[in-house]
Amino acid sequence: MATTVLLLSGPNLNLLGIREPDIYGSATLDDHVAGAKAVASDLGIELEHLQSNHEGALVEAVHGARGRVAAIIVNAAAMTHYSWSLRDALAAFDGPVVELHLSNTATREPWRHTSVITPVATGIISGFGGHGYRLAVEAVFLLLK
Ligand code: DQA
Repeated sequence: MATTVLLLSGPNLNLLGIREPDIYGSATLDDHVAGAKAVASDLGIELEHLQSNHEGALVEAVHGARGRVAAIIVNAAAMTHYSWSLRDALAAFDGPVVELHLSNTATREPWRHTSVITPVATGIISGFGGHGYRLAVEAVFLLLK
């Protein structure tokens, strides 16, 4: 059976492509997910994706991943910087967690320098734009090997 990995996308990422393209690029979230799924398929990984603008939906997706999914890749978007509930849900997940950002948040506004997700993440991929989605799948593949 293929290994299943969950990719979570937080608030406003549904607007990628039209939202601040100077920062986030012109590709859509669908484009990024398609790229990640192509790499996943080559590596024998089944990639599930959920985007939500609602904190509770993302928390429940992490709960639903417990015991079912091998790893989680999460671009929590703005929730990265304040969502203790998502942080706690991820802390209760057993497998690797890869924190993902399109932009290099450390070079941006000071409020983006704090991530409540990082302390419960296995590692971070940040600042590689859309390439990060494919890199994150490769990272979980290597971590699960
Ligand atoms: C982001 C960075 C966050 O600070 C921001 O709120 C986002 C996107 C990124 O992918 O670069 O919505 O997570």
